[in-house]
Amino acid sequence: MGEFILARPNGRKIPREDKIFGISNRAKAAIAEKGRDKVVNGTIGALLDDEGKLIVLKSVDEVYRQLAPTDYAEYAPIGGTMPFKEAVQKAAFGDHVPEGFIEAVATPGGTGSLRNTISNYSEPGDQILTSDWHWAPYNTIAGEIGRSIATFELFDADRKFNGADFAAKATELLKKQDSLVIILNTPAHNPTGYSLTLGDWGKVIETIEEGAKGGKPIVLLVDAAYIDFAGDEDEYRKFLPLLGTLPENVLSIVAYSLSKTCTLYGARCGAMICVAKTQEIADEFKRVCEFSSRGSWSNTARIAQVILSRIYSDPELLAKVDEERAGYRNMLLARGRAFSEAAAECGLEIVPFDAGFFVSVPCPDPDAVSKKLEEQDIFLVPLAKGIRVSVASIPEEACRKLPPLIKAAMA
Ligand SMILES: Cc1ncc(COP(=O)(O)O)c(C=O)c1O
Repeated sequence: MGEFILARPNGRKIPREDKIFGISNRAKAAIAEKGRDKVVNGTIGALLDDEGKLIVLKSVDEVYRQLAPTDYAEYAPIGGTMPFKEAVQKAAFGDHVPEGFIEAVATPGGTGSLRNTISNYSEPGDQILTSDWHWAPYNTIAGEIGRSIATFELFDADRKFNGADFAAKATELLKKQDSLVIILNTPAHNPTGYSLTLGDWGKVIETIEEGAKGGKPIVLLVDAAYIDFAGDEDEYRKFLPLLGTLPENVLSIVAYSLSKTCTLYGARCGAMICVAKTQEIADEFKRVCEFSSRGSWSNTARIAQVILSRIYSDPELLAKVDEERAGYRNMLLARGRAFSEAAAECGLEIVPFDAGFFVSVPCPDPDAVSKKLEEQDIFLVPLAKGIRVSVASIPEEACRKLPPLIKAAMA
């Protein structure tokens, strides 16, 4: 019998068990059997407190508790409610609004924005360009709709952003295809924690400007899922105006998510926000993306749209949410620092890290290293090029202890 009974493979490789969920389940079983203090579960992509409990912003939860039934029971318009569309632009851009024609379409998390961007701005068979270190579901999202992922090397030999490889791969794809979608996950990239500097951005913009001279459409999707956990909100938004400087055949799309920002992971809300050179291109963006939404998930849940709109209509409440998030962000940044300092002390090479939920350790056989660590009740995620540690889900003390143990497992 083949791999499938009734289902059609449609060119996809579908594992029987999601690798990350599988490891995470084994970690949970180990915790149930041996106790939390005996196990390190560094697999989870959500912010947990030092006791391993999900952090939910109290200020956001208070808004939730005051909702009326119609706030969550009623359908939302396909593209999102008007107050949400306004609020999400403020949330995503802050004081750094790019120049251009801006439209927002609500999506179920950042995932929905990625899916809608790929489906509307590439063709079946096309390759989507992103970095070699990347969030694995990009492959799934692209593969589900008949596209695939091509990669450039994120870092060069000097551990700096590899602008030259980015340019080479973008040029190569633009020669082969009629259009190009580029995904850059920054700041606080998953899985490395790298944030593009303004200098790196300069190289990206230069490459796209050069590539655009051929006249083919280019879409630059900035996956900003972790933007509010990278550091100072203002500092980390300084690159945004650059998106408004690109030529007419380039469309920038910011994929903004409420999952991490508002700790509303399960409410499935985000938005794709475009920055276009003309009103016609922005109108087209709205039209095609709303059409795609209708044909996949229809409308996005109203509940988180109402919550974000309430937060942005009340400056005092917004300040409370920002302040509460900043406290947890500082906790997260301290964990990341503890890990990178301990790695430097024991001579463990990590991929250049700035901030965010994850740190990555490059190694030749990630599956073997992860297996060895599991034997010591340390659960981490093996990727294609290394091991991913979720500093978001383990206490600072564990972040300090892990690097020498990972180094020993690699020996
Ligand atoms: C890099 C990256 N992009 C996008 C997302 C999208 O998450 P969501 O759909 O919950 O907004 C995630 C979530 O883990 C992520 O890590």
